[in-house]
Amino acid sequence: MSCNTRPENMERITTPELANAFIEEQIAELRAQIGDKKVLLALSGGVDSSVVAALLIKAIGKQLVCVHVNHGLMRKNESENVIEVFKNQLDANLIYVDATDRFLDLLAGVSEPERKRKIIGKEFIEVFADEARKLEGVEFLAQGTIYPDILESIKAAEGKKAVKSHHNVGGLPEDLKFELVEPIKLLFKDEVRVVGETLGLPHAMVYRQPFPGPGLGVRCLGAITRDRLAALREADAILREEFANNGLAEKVWQYFIVIPDIKSVGVKDESRYEGWPAIIRAVNTKDAMSATIEEIPYAVLHKVTDRITHEVEGINRVLYDLTPKPIGTIEWE
Ligand code: XMP
Repeated sequence: MSCNTRPENMERITTPELANAFIEEQIAELRAQIGDKKVLLALSGGVDSSVVAALLIKAIGKQLVCVHVNHGLMRKNESENVIEVFKNQLDANLIYVDATDRFLDLLAGVSEPERKRKIIGKEFIEVFADEARKLEGVEFLAQGTIYPDILESIKAAEGKKAVKSHHNVGGLPEDLKFELVEPIKLLFKDEVRVVGETLGLPHAMVYRQPFPGPGLGVRCLGAITRDRLAALREADAILREEFANNGLAEKVWQYFIVIPDIKSVGVKDESRYEGWPAIIRAVNTKDAMSATIEEIPYAVLHKVTDRITHEVEGINRVLYDLTPKPIGTIEWE
Protein backbone atom coordinates (compact mmCIF):
# COMPACT_ATOMS: atom_id res chain seq x y z
CA MET A 1 0.00 0.00 0.00
CA SER A 2 2.37 2.67 -1.10
CA CYS A 3 -0.09 5.09 -2.68
CA ASN A 4 -1.56 7.91 -0.60
CA THR A 5 -5.11 7.86 -1.90
CA ARG A 6 -7.77 5.49 -0.84
CA PRO A 7 -9.08 3.58 -3.86
CA GLU A 8 -12.74 4.37 -4.46
CA ASN A 9 -13.69 0.71 -4.36
CA MET A 10 -11.87 -0.01 -1.09
CA GLU A 11 -14.34 -1.75 1.21
CA ARG A 12 -14.86 -0.20 4.65
CA ILE A 13 -13.45 -2.50 7.35
CA THR A 14 -16.41 -3.04 9.66
CA THR A 15 -16.14 -6.68 10.77
CA PRO A 16 -13.46 -8.95 12.27
CA GLU A 17 -13.49 -10.96 9.03
CA LEU A 18 -12.64 -7.90 6.94
CA ALA A 19 -10.09 -6.85 9.56
CA ASN A 20 -8.45 -10.28 9.40
CA ALA A 21 -8.18 -10.06 5.63
CA PHE A 22 -6.53 -6.63 6.00
CA ILE A 23 -4.18 -7.92 8.70
CA GLU A 24 -3.07 -10.93 6.62
CA GLU A 25 -2.47 -8.76 3.57
CA GLN A 26 -0.48 -6.24 5.63
CA ILE A 27 1.63 -8.92 7.31
CA ALA A 28 2.69 -10.25 3.90
CA GLU A 29 3.45 -6.73 2.62
CA LEU A 30 5.34 -5.71 5.77
CA ARG A 31 7.49 -8.85 5.71
CA ALA A 32 8.30 -8.29 2.05
CA GLN A 33 9.18 -4.62 2.65
CA ILE A 34 11.17 -5.06 5.86
CA GLY A 35 12.97 -8.39 5.38
CA ASP A 36 15.29 -9.01 8.34
CA LYS A 37 15.86 -5.32 9.15
CA LYS A 38 14.71 -3.48 12.27
CA VAL A 39 11.83 -1.02 12.52
CA LEU A 40 11.56 1.79 15.04
CA LEU A 41 8.23 3.07 16.38
CA ALA A 42 7.33 5.86 18.79
CA LEU A 43 4.64 4.15 20.82
CA SER A 44 2.53 6.68 22.71
CA GLY A 45 -0.19 4.24 23.68
CA GLY A 46 -2.74 6.08 21.54
CA VAL A 47 -5.01 4.08 19.26
CA ASP A 48 -3.02 4.56 16.06
CA SER A 49 0.50 3.84 17.28
CA SER A 50 -0.80 0.92 19.37
CA VAL A 51 -2.49 -0.69 16.36
CA VAL A 52 0.62 -0.21 14.22
CA ALA A 53 2.72 -1.78 17.00
CA ALA A 54 0.39 -4.78 17.33
CA LEU A 55 0.39 -5.28 13.55
CA LEU A 56 4.18 -5.12 13.34
CA ILE A 57 4.65 -7.40 16.33
CA LYS A 58 2.54 -9.95 14.47
CA ALA A 59 4.48 -9.46 11.25
CA ILE A 60 8.08 -9.17 12.43
CA GLY A 61 8.11 -9.79 16.21
CA LYS A 62 11.26 -8.52 17.93
CA GLN A 63 12.55 -6.77 14.80
CA LEU A 64 10.19 -4.01 15.90
CA VAL A 65 11.73 -1.68 18.48
CA CYS A 66 9.09 0.40 20.26
CA VAL A 67 10.13 3.49 22.18
CA HIS A 68 7.67 4.86 24.70
CA VAL A 69 8.61 8.37 25.82
CA ASN A 70 6.97 9.45 29.05
CA HIS A 71 7.08 13.23 28.80
CA GLY A 72 5.66 13.61 32.29
CA LEU A 73 2.39 14.90 30.81
CA MET A 74 0.67 11.52 30.60
CA ARG A 75 -2.60 10.75 32.31
CA LYS A 76 -2.59 8.60 35.44
CA ASN A 77 -1.34 5.03 34.78
CA GLU A 78 -0.99 5.63 31.05
CA SER A 79 2.68 4.67 30.70
CA GLU A 80 2.17 1.73 33.07
CA ASN A 81 -0.61 0.47 30.77
CA VAL A 82 1.61 0.69 27.71
CA ILE A 83 4.26 -1.38 29.50
CA GLU A 84 1.68 -3.88 30.75
CA VAL A 85 0.07 -4.46 27.34
CA PHE A 86 3.10 -4.33 25.07
CA LYS A 87 5.96 -5.59 27.21
CA ASN A 88 4.20 -7.98 29.57
CA GLN A 89 1.35 -9.27 27.42
CA LEU A 90 2.63 -8.99 23.83
CA ASP A 91 6.31 -9.50 24.69
CA ALA A 92 7.34 -6.53 22.54
CA ASN A 93 10.82 -5.13 22.26
CA LEU A 94 9.95 -1.98 24.21
CA ILE A 95 12.25 0.76 25.42
CA TYR A 96 10.69 2.92 28.14
CA VAL A 97 12.16 6.38 28.61
CA ASP A 98 11.09 8.45 31.59
CA ALA A 99 11.94 11.94 30.37
CA THR A 100 9.68 13.74 32.86
CA ASP A 101 12.46 15.92 34.28
CA ARG A 102 13.79 16.92 30.84
CA PHE A 103 10.35 18.16 29.79
CA LEU A 104 9.23 19.78 33.02
CA ASP A 105 12.55 21.59 33.48
CA LEU A 106 12.28 23.06 29.97
CA LEU A 107 8.65 24.04 30.52
CA ALA A 108 9.23 25.73 33.87
CA GLY A 109 8.04 29.33 33.74
CA VAL A 110 6.72 29.06 30.16
CA SER A 111 3.10 30.20 29.96
CA GLU A 112 2.48 30.96 26.27
CA PRO A 113 0.48 28.05 24.78
CA GLU A 114 2.15 27.83 21.39
CA ARG A 115 5.61 28.04 22.97
CA LYS A 116 4.69 25.21 25.34
CA ARG A 117 3.59 23.13 22.35
CA LYS A 118 6.79 23.89 20.45
CA ILE A 119 8.98 22.96 23.43
CA ILE A 120 7.12 19.68 23.96
CA GLY A 121 7.24 18.80 20.24
CA LYS A 122 10.93 19.62 19.85
CA GLU A 123 11.99 17.85 23.03
CA PHE A 124 9.96 14.80 22.08
CA ILE A 125 11.90 14.49 18.85
CA GLU A 126 15.20 14.98 20.68
CA VAL A 127 14.48 12.29 23.27
CA PHE A 128 13.30 9.92 20.55
CA ALA A 129 16.33 10.71 18.36
CA ASP A 130 18.68 10.09 21.32
CA GLU A 131 17.19 6.61 21.66
CA ALA A 132 17.30 5.98 17.90
CA ARG A 133 21.03 6.82 17.77
CA LYS A 134 21.75 4.16 20.40
CA LEU A 135 20.29 1.43 18.18
CA GLU A 136 22.00 -0.44 15.35
CA GLY A 137 20.55 -1.90 12.19
CA VAL A 138 17.36 0.16 12.12
CA GLU A 139 16.35 1.05 8.58
CA PHE A 140 12.67 1.76 8.96
CA LEU A 141 10.48 4.12 10.95
CA ALA A 142 6.87 3.06 11.51
CA GLN A 143 4.19 5.67 11.97
CA GLY A 144 0.54 5.54 12.92
CA THR A 145 -0.51 7.84 10.10
CA ILE A 146 -4.21 7.37 9.28
CA TYR A 147 -6.29 8.58 6.36
CA PRO A 148 -7.63 11.75 8.02
CA ASP A 149 -3.96 12.78 8.64
CA ILE A 150 -3.31 12.46 4.92
CA LEU A 151 -6.44 14.46 4.09
CA GLU A 152 -5.36 17.06 6.67
CA SER A 153 -1.90 17.46 5.07
CA ILE A 154 -3.50 17.85 1.66
CA LYS A 155 -5.61 20.69 3.14
CA ALA A 156 -2.51 22.21 4.77
CA ALA A 157 -0.66 22.07 1.45
CA GLU A 158 -3.55 24.00 -0.07
CA GLY A 159 -2.87 26.74 2.47
CA LYS A 160 -5.89 26.44 4.78
CA LYS A 161 -5.15 28.02 8.14
CA ALA A 162 -5.01 25.94 11.33
CA VAL A 163 -6.25 27.36 14.64
CA LYS A 164 -3.52 25.60 16.61
CA SER A 165 -0.30 23.89 15.66
CA HIS A 166 -1.22 20.27 16.36
CA HIS A 167 1.73 18.13 17.14
CA ASN A 168 2.41 14.44 17.09
CA VAL A 169 5.78 13.17 15.85
CA GLY A 170 7.38 15.72 13.56
CA GLY A 171 10.43 15.35 11.36
CA LEU A 172 13.57 13.67 12.72
CA PRO A 173 17.03 15.29 12.52
CA GLU A 174 19.04 15.01 9.27
CA ASP A 175 21.41 12.29 10.53
CA LEU A 176 18.52 9.91 11.10
CA LYS A 177 17.23 8.74 7.78
CA PHE A 178 14.68 5.97 7.74
CA GLU A 179 12.30 4.55 5.23
CA LEU A 180 8.71 5.05 6.38
CA VAL A 181 6.37 2.20 7.22
CA GLU A 182 2.75 3.36 7.45
CA PRO A 183 0.52 0.30 7.37
CA ILE A 184 -2.75 2.00 8.39
CA LYS A 185 -2.46 5.17 6.34
CA LEU A 186 -5.51 4.42 4.20
CA LEU A 187 -7.78 3.59 7.14
CA PHE A 188 -10.35 5.74 8.87
CA LYS A 189 -10.43 5.76 12.67
CA ASP A 190 -13.36 3.36 13.01
CA GLU A 191 -11.51 0.87 10.79
CA VAL A 192 -8.32 1.23 12.83
CA ARG A 193 -10.35 0.33 15.92
CA VAL A 194 -11.84 -2.81 14.34
CA VAL A 195 -8.35 -3.88 13.24
CA GLY A 196 -6.98 -3.18 16.74
CA GLU A 197 -9.61 -5.27 18.48
CA THR A 198 -9.18 -8.06 15.96
CA LEU A 199 -5.45 -8.00 16.73
CA GLY A 200 -6.34 -8.62 20.38
CA LEU A 201 -5.62 -5.19 21.86
CA PRO A 202 -7.69 -4.35 24.97
CA HIS A 203 -11.05 -2.69 24.24
CA ALA A 204 -10.20 0.26 26.52
CA MET A 205 -7.03 0.96 24.55
CA VAL A 206 -8.69 0.73 21.15
CA TYR A 207 -11.75 2.79 22.08
CA ARG A 208 -10.02 5.31 24.29
CA GLN A 209 -10.87 8.97 23.86
CA PRO A 210 -8.52 11.19 21.86
CA PHE A 211 -5.60 12.60 23.82
CA PRO A 212 -3.44 15.39 22.40
CA GLY A 213 0.27 14.78 21.68
CA PRO A 214 1.35 17.46 24.24
CA GLY A 215 -0.81 15.64 26.79
CA LEU A 216 -1.78 17.29 30.05
CA GLY A 217 0.52 20.16 29.02
CA VAL A 218 -2.41 21.77 27.16
CA ARG A 219 -4.74 21.30 30.14
CA CYS A 220 -2.45 22.63 32.87
CA LEU A 221 -2.90 26.24 31.73
CA GLY A 222 -0.16 28.84 31.95
CA ALA A 223 3.25 27.86 33.31
CA ILE A 224 3.18 24.19 34.35
CA THR A 225 4.15 23.41 37.91
CA ARG A 226 4.58 19.90 39.29
CA ASP A 227 2.01 20.38 42.05
CA ARG A 228 -0.71 21.68 39.72
CA LEU A 229 0.12 18.96 37.18
CA ALA A 230 -0.21 16.31 39.91
CA ALA A 231 -3.59 17.77 40.92
CA LEU A 232 -4.73 17.74 37.28
CA ARG A 233 -3.69 14.10 36.84
CA GLU A 234 -5.58 13.00 39.96
CA ALA A 235 -8.71 15.02 39.16
CA ASP A 236 -8.73 13.69 35.58
CA ALA A 237 -8.44 10.11 36.86
CA ILE A 238 -11.45 10.69 39.14
CA LEU A 239 -13.51 12.14 36.29
CA ARG A 240 -12.66 9.18 34.06
CA GLU A 241 -13.49 6.71 36.83
CA GLU A 242 -16.87 8.32 37.52
CA PHE A 243 -17.73 8.53 33.81
CA ALA A 244 -16.93 4.82 33.49
CA ASN A 245 -18.98 3.96 36.60
CA ASN A 246 -21.97 5.88 35.25
CA GLY A 247 -22.04 4.62 31.66
CA LEU A 248 -20.77 7.91 30.23
CA ALA A 249 -17.34 6.74 29.08
CA GLU A 250 -18.66 5.20 25.88
CA LYS A 251 -21.31 7.86 25.37
CA VAL A 252 -19.22 11.03 25.53
CA TRP A 253 -16.62 11.62 22.82
CA GLN A 254 -14.08 13.45 24.96
CA TYR A 255 -14.02 14.43 28.61
CA PHE A 256 -11.27 15.77 30.78
CA ILE A 257 -10.23 18.28 33.42
CA VAL A 258 -8.51 21.61 32.87
CA ILE A 259 -6.79 23.55 35.65
CA PRO A 260 -6.11 27.25 35.09
CA ASP A 261 -3.32 29.06 36.84
CA ILE A 262 -5.53 30.93 39.29
CA LYS A 263 -6.41 30.46 42.92
CA SER A 264 -9.48 31.46 44.86
CA VAL A 265 -10.28 31.50 48.52
CA GLY A 266 -12.03 28.55 50.05
CA VAL A 267 -12.42 27.00 53.48
CA LYS A 268 -11.21 23.64 54.76
CA ASP A 269 -11.20 22.35 58.32
CA GLU A 270 -12.51 25.75 59.41
CA SER A 271 -9.59 27.68 57.97
CA ARG A 272 -8.81 29.58 54.81
CA TYR A 273 -7.86 27.27 51.94
CA GLU A 274 -6.66 28.78 48.70
CA GLY A 275 -6.93 26.41 45.81
CA TRP A 276 -7.25 26.02 42.04
CA PRO A 277 -10.56 25.39 40.28
CA ALA A 278 -10.87 22.13 38.31
CA ILE A 279 -12.90 22.64 35.12
CA ILE A 280 -14.82 19.75 33.59
CA ARG A 281 -14.99 19.60 29.78
CA ALA A 282 -17.25 16.94 28.22
CA VAL A 283 -18.03 17.24 24.52
CA ASN A 284 -19.55 15.32 21.66
CA THR A 285 -18.47 15.73 18.08
CA LYS A 286 -18.11 13.83 14.84
CA ASP A 287 -14.89 15.30 13.51
CA ALA A 288 -13.61 17.67 16.25
CA MET A 289 -14.23 20.65 13.95
CA SER A 290 -17.32 21.57 15.96
CA ALA A 291 -18.54 20.18 19.26
CA THR A 292 -21.63 20.20 21.46
CA ILE A 293 -21.89 19.87 25.22
CA GLU A 294 -22.90 16.60 26.79
CA GLU A 295 -25.66 16.91 29.39
CA ILE A 296 -24.05 15.27 32.40
CA PRO A 297 -26.57 14.23 35.08
CA TYR A 298 -26.36 16.43 38.18
CA ALA A 299 -25.77 13.39 40.37
CA VAL A 300 -22.58 12.62 38.46
CA LEU A 301 -21.44 16.25 38.59
CA HIS A 302 -22.04 16.27 42.36
CA LYS A 303 -20.14 13.04 42.86
CA VAL A 304 -17.19 14.23 40.76
CA THR A 305 -17.14 17.57 42.61
CA ASP A 306 -17.30 15.87 45.97
CA ARG A 307 -14.53 13.43 45.16
CA ILE A 308 -12.19 15.94 43.53
CA THR A 309 -12.52 18.53 46.30
CA HIS A 310 -12.00 15.88 49.01
CA GLU A 311 -9.39 13.69 47.36
CA VAL A 312 -7.21 16.08 45.38
CA GLU A 313 -4.74 18.29 47.17
CA GLY A 314 -4.91 21.93 46.04
CA ILE A 315 -8.38 22.03 44.45
CA ASN A 316 -11.20 23.88 46.15
CA ARG A 317 -13.79 24.34 43.39
CA VAL A 318 -15.15 22.34 40.46
CA LEU A 319 -16.73 24.06 37.44
CA TYR A 320 -18.49 22.71 34.35
CA ASP A 321 -17.68 24.32 30.99
CA LEU A 322 -20.85 24.70 28.90
CA THR A 323 -19.17 26.29 25.88
CA PRO A 324 -19.66 24.66 22.48
CA LYS A 325 -17.09 24.72 19.65
CA PRO A 326 -17.16 27.24 18.11
CA ILE A 327 -16.80 29.58 20.15
CA GLY A 328 -14.52 27.62 22.45
CA THR A 329 -12.04 25.09 21.11
CA ILE A 330 -12.21 21.67 22.75
CA GLU A 331 -8.90 22.08 24.57
CA TRP A 332 -8.34 25.25 26.56
CA GLU A 333 -4.54 25.48 26.14
P1 XMP B 1 -9.34 21.77 19.59
O1 XMP B 1 -8.84 22.18 20.93
O2 XMP B 1 -8.53 22.34 18.46
O3 XMP B 1 -9.12 20.19 19.51
O4 XMP B 1 -10.81 22.01 19.42
C1 XMP B 1 -9.68 19.35 18.54
C2 XMP B 1 -9.27 17.93 18.86
O5 XMP B 1 -7.87 17.74 18.63
C3 XMP B 1 -7.24 17.24 19.80
N1 XMP B 1 -5.88 17.79 19.85
C4 XMP B 1 -4.79 17.14 19.41
N2 XMP B 1 -4.64 15.91 18.89
N3 XMP B 1 -2.31 16.29 18.71
C5 XMP B 1 -3.39 15.49 18.54
O6 XMP B 1 -3.25 14.36 18.08
C6 XMP B 1 -2.39 17.53 19.23
O7 XMP B 1 -1.41 18.24 19.37
C7 XMP B 1 -3.70 17.97 19.60
N4 XMP B 1 -4.16 19.13 20.12
C8 XMP B 1 -5.51 18.99 20.28
C9 XMP B 1 -8.12 17.70 20.94
O8 XMP B 1 -7.94 16.91 22.11
C10 XMP B 1 -9.49 17.56 20.32
O9 XMP B 1 -9.92 16.21 20.36
